[in-house]
Amino acid sequence: MKILVTGGSGYIGSHTCVELLNSGYEVVVMDNLCNSSEESLNRVKQITGKDLAFYKADITDRDAFKKIFSEHKIDAVIHFAGLKAVGESCEKPIEYYFNNVAGTVIMCDEMRKAGVKNIVFSSSATVYGKPKTVPIKEDFPLSTTNPYGATKLMIENILTDIHTADKEWNVILLRYFNPIGAHESGLIGEDPNGIPNNLLPYVSKVAIGQLPFVNVWGNDYETKDGTGVRDYIHVVDLAVGHIRAVEKLKENPGRKVYNLGTGNGYSVLEIIENFSKACGKDVPYKIAPRRPGDIDVCYADASLAKEELGWEAKFGIDKMCEDLWRWQSKNPNGYK
Ligand code: NAD
Ligand code: WQD
Repeated sequence: MKILVTGGSGYIGSHTCVELLNSGYEVVVMDNLCNSSEESLNRVKQITGKDLAFYKADITDRDAFKKIFSEHKIDAVIHFAGLKAVGESCEKPIEYYFNNVAGTVIMCDEMRKAGVKNIVFSSSATVYGKPKTVPIKEDFPLSTTNPYGATKLMIENILTDIHTADKEWNVILLRYFNPIGAHESGLIGEDPNGIPNNLLPYVSKVAIGQLPFVNVWGNDYETKDGTGVRDYIHVVDLAVGHIRAVEKLKENPGRKVYNLGTGNGYSVLEIIENFSKACGKDVPYKIAPRRPGDIDVCYADASLAKEELGWEAKFGIDKMCEDLWRWQSKNPNGYK
């Protein structure tokens, strides 16, 4: 089977390419490199000893899809391409709606023309808004609080409508919790531009000495130690979830949605403590005011993915921190 991976040179995409190639799939990557480097794909080839096809192209470019679909017989698309920074999406809503939503509509139109009607989409736990209870199940009410989250929910709805109108489409929506860590080779990992927004890349930059301390955004939440609790999941576990989803597509499942998380919640302070252990030094932090829009607690009920995909997260927080530290210390400046 040949899989088109949009956004395949990015953080989750590159790890998924490794798992696809190792599972015997052929891989075609399409990425405009707006938030990644082609070097990640060289590393994917190095890890797997296998080749893949790469197109530097934008998902809003119809001709690029026409070229790819004419040169390859694609069986399914894994759609990672998108902009993902919550704060930036509030400043640049037009860019986010255009890139993520319009880009996806253009892609689906070109997929339809080429007769490619199987898709796995990167959604996010952000579509649950502020959940009333945890663990979160797939049938919980959906809402969003920022343009980024809104693009994810809109795309879920668009893909659902496409399936409703044409039952030949198989649509699997994967709602990721908080992906962290890196491939255990230390060759690929997350390489954010500028100062990271997310906790783990920030903590690892403090540990390596590029930032002075971690701001802990609030210690007055309704949680075990007052700091925010999240469901951190190893990026390799997440990548394997995509292989299971592609396997599911072969059964013509229609439209499905799955949480990909571990079901465990860790607080910010627990993460700092675990990371300090992994890197063998104290990571300095300061308590700071809450970050607007943050919620207290978020973790998954991932039992549906276990039941229907035969998937469950294998790696614990120790390995997530160790693998991230290996990537960060071997590549202090990312792919540069
Ligand atoms: P990433 O930025 O590393 O990867 C996204 C890739 O898409 C990048 O390589 C970027 O260059 C590419 N891209 C963006 N716009 C494009 C366009 N118009 N045309 C072609 N390529 C384009 O991000 P990631 O963390 O790997 O996330 C992958 C997907 O998973 C995204 O859709 C993201 O919203 C979603 N997601 C991420 C997280 C997370 O915390 N990392 C959580 C939930 C969902
Ligand atoms: C985790 C915890 C912060 C940074 C975001 C998106 C979500 C999804 C994943 C894509 C929170 C605290 C953080 C820091 C801190 N992305 N924190 N100091 O907010 O759960 O989710 O990324 O879909 O949509 O909203 O992840 O890593 O930013 O924060 O104290 O410097 O760490 O307050 O409790 P979040 P995060």
